[in-house]
Amino acid sequence: MRYHAGRHFLQIPGPTNVPDRVLRAIDMPTIDHRGPQFQTLALEVLDGLREVFQTRQPVVIYPASGTGAWEAALVNTLSPGDHVLMFETGQFATLWKKMADRLGLKTEFIATDWRRGADASVLEERLRADGAHSIKAVCVVHNETSTGVTTRIPPLRAALDRAQHPALFLVDTVSSLGSIEYRHDEWGVDVTVSGSQKGLMLPPGLSFNAVSAKAREASRTAKLPRSYWSWDEMQASNTQGWFPYTPATNLLYGLRESLAMLREEGLQNVFARHRRHGEATRRAVRAWGLEVLCAVPEEYSNSLTAVMTPAGVDADHVRKVILERFDMSLGTGLGKLAGRVFRIGHLGDFNDLTLLGALAGVEMGLAAAGVPHRRGGVQAAMDALGEQDAGGAAHGGTAPSDAAAAAGSAKDPAGAGARRAA
Ligand SMILES: Cc1ncc(COP(=O)(O)O)c(C=O)c1O
Repeated sequence: MRYHAGRHFLQIPGPTNVPDRVLRAIDMPTIDHRGPQFQTLALEVLDGLREVFQTRQPVVIYPASGTGAWEAALVNTLSPGDHVLMFETGQFATLWKKMADRLGLKTEFIATDWRRGADASVLEERLRADGAHSIKAVCVVHNETSTGVTTRIPPLRAALDRAQHPALFLVDTVSSLGSIEYRHDEWGVDVTVSGSQKGLMLPPGLSFNAVSAKAREASRTAKLPRSYWSWDEMQASNTQGWFPYTPATNLLYGLRESLAMLREEGLQNVFARHRRHGEATRRAVRAWGLEVLCAVPEEYSNSLTAVMTPAGVDADHVRKVILERFDMSLGTGLGKLAGRVFRIGHLGDFNDLTLLGALAGVEMGLAAAGVPHRRGGVQAAMDALGEQDAGGAAHGGTAPSDAAAAAGSAKDPAGAGARRAA
């Protein structure tokens, strides 16, 4: 492969760029995971993680990718044949559902057009119809990384409560934790699933379950077989700062550093920064004359944007040109979106100039790949950043043009775009 001078632009929606501070923190001798130095480290990160999940409940750390934490959430709380309600918001929701099927759960999958999040009124209606309470869990992906749609979690919790339904509430935050507001306790979530390689700015390899008291109670009677993923041994060891098996020691050093960085910036400022960059990215997409896949402005993801290419334009060709010419990786279209969208990751260790560099790469790439578009996306993004500063939205805040887009989308409703996407 040809050598590319300068740093590669890793603008997929995770794994994200790992800051030098975190790389340096990981670059340490591995220590005895049964020794006192490790114990201090473990207690520190187990405690620090709770701030990011916004919980007082225990958080379990697995030496695994996010998929492992999905499995842990299911096998610790459910029994063979249990009825589980899931929302087909995109490819990751689909994979989680496939896993549930393989584990022997009885899944019910509520379809969407992959351009919107899970609908609270649909959930409420379905739960009210389940008078016998046969549904044991509701599983939702908070931020669908395949579509760039963020499901609003509080209305779903409210739907469960209004229907007075006892189902467990399981939420995947793999691509939202540490970049989009998320509150495990306040939002009444029973198991929150997450991973290290996105908002937490770490390499892949760690994943998490934040676990409510109700979920721990359910785990006492849940019958799905589990051993490696079992919370009970993990939690018994964790309370003393130990793990029941060998932990990913050096990634935990990195985690300590990334938690310190998030604390230094302030979680609310981290969320505001992501809102700011999400808005500026969408402004660029509209200026190019292209369409954001997410059809509901209130559900725009602030960690990534999926951009639809015009009919007949292979999005993977555009990505290939951008990689070869500008050494930037963008996310591919997944599942039924293959070839239809490319995804710009704007999460993690990311600032205004990273954003503008990434958008310049896309704009030049659209021209180089011969995609019909208008120029001026980078300028539109700069204007958006400037307006947000002028508006005092301290590197974040409400996005006026998103409100305008909301009005616009009423004129161009789900229909046309949704059919194109499907
Ligand atoms: C929303 C979401 N859930 C689950 C996963 C699966 O995580 P992993 O690939 O780390 O196993 C991903 C991966 O990107 C994801 O984006």
